[in-house]
Amino acid sequence: MKKQLDVSRGDEFHYTIYFESSFQRLSHCVNELGLSNNKACIVTDTTVAPLYGEQVAEELAKTYEKVVTFVFPSGEPSKNLDTVKSLYTFLIEEKFDRRDMLFALGGGVVGDLTGFTAATYLRGIDFIQIPTTLLAQVDSSIGGKTGVDFDQYKNMVGAFHHPRMVYMNLHTLDTLTGEQFACGMGEVLKTGLIKDADYYEWTINHLTEIDEREQAVLAKMIYRSCSIKKQVVENDPTEKGERALLNLGHTLGHAIEKLKNFQLLHGQCVALGTVAAARISEQRGLIDQEELYEIRDMNVGFDLPITVRGLDPEAVLAATKSDKKMDHGQIKFVLLKSIGEAYVDTTVNDEEILEAFDFINGDKLDYE
Ligand code: GLY
Repeated sequence: MKKQLDVSRGDEFHYTIYFESSFQRLSHCVNELGLSNNKACIVTDTTVAPLYGEQVAEELAKTYEKVVTFVFPSGEPSKNLDTVKSLYTFLIEEKFDRRDMLFALGGGVVGDLTGFTAATYLRGIDFIQIPTTLLAQVDSSIGGKTGVDFDQYKNMVGAFHHPRMVYMNLHTLDTLTGEQFACGMGEVLKTGLIKDADYYEWTINHLTEIDEREQAVLAKMIYRSCSIKKQVVENDPTEKGERALLNLGHTLGHAIEKLKNFQLLHGQCVALGTVAAARISEQRGLIDQEELYEIRDMNVGFDLPITVRGLDPEAVLAATKSDKKMDHGQIKFVLLKSIGEAYVDTTVNDEEILEAFDFINGDKLDYE
């Protein structure tokens, strides 16, 4: 397995992603980059802290004078400014200054919230990502998007702030729930769909090994996803163009996530949104029906939903329009030109959105 990947763009950012099978090289990697500062704060949640908190703290204690840990309740409802405020208070009380380092130990929520705190505390301090979920390893820990939800608006407050390093212990996937693993697979499928048809085929062909979490296959998959994400982020770090393609499935996905009050996980909502986006693409004659059904069936193959119940289509439409992915009042929809090639479209109208929602609307399908 390849052990590392560099993400860089001129003077703007440069950091290494390490692919490891334990936490044993964490302090070595920190030292190698000359990043061993005074104090380290591990930011993690109530799920990950009991699993890996102590191991990581012990490893960092080899390098740092002082290691403290801040734990907050797991889940999307914690991803808000109240948790950030508690973390600011903790850092102030622990006398953290700009030479100190935050470590985001956990999934997407931990990474986004820690990154945002690092971007804003003392006008910006360094942080390191230690992603422990598949979703965070293949997507959210790379690329410097940080932020929190604001009221019911997803990721409405945030900043671009790149980590100084990303350290993955791929064995953390052993303790991941089936649901969380499936969410990561949603991102993997998305990456293939928007950028790399061969990778998409490869993923489908390795469904059994992936579902059985064969380490060698997962390592290949994660490396390939990270390589694609690296290229996109290097080309377009602040989402002026190409990076928006990574939002396939997010427009309707965020609307569903919000209206279901975060009862469904982000990855599940994005997977539903991807089927809906594929439906619009098929209705426009961009992809054929067979491809649409393959995309939908792959959700089934990887334990992701293909329908959602209990939502009013008009409310979904309204929520879609209040998402931040708008361009001069037009919804920015990512559609598929073909498997492996996506584009941003600003002409998707209300009828198309409602028709696509019908395609994933469990209530409507039962009725029919
Ligand atoms: N997760 C989408 C992005 O990083 O742009």
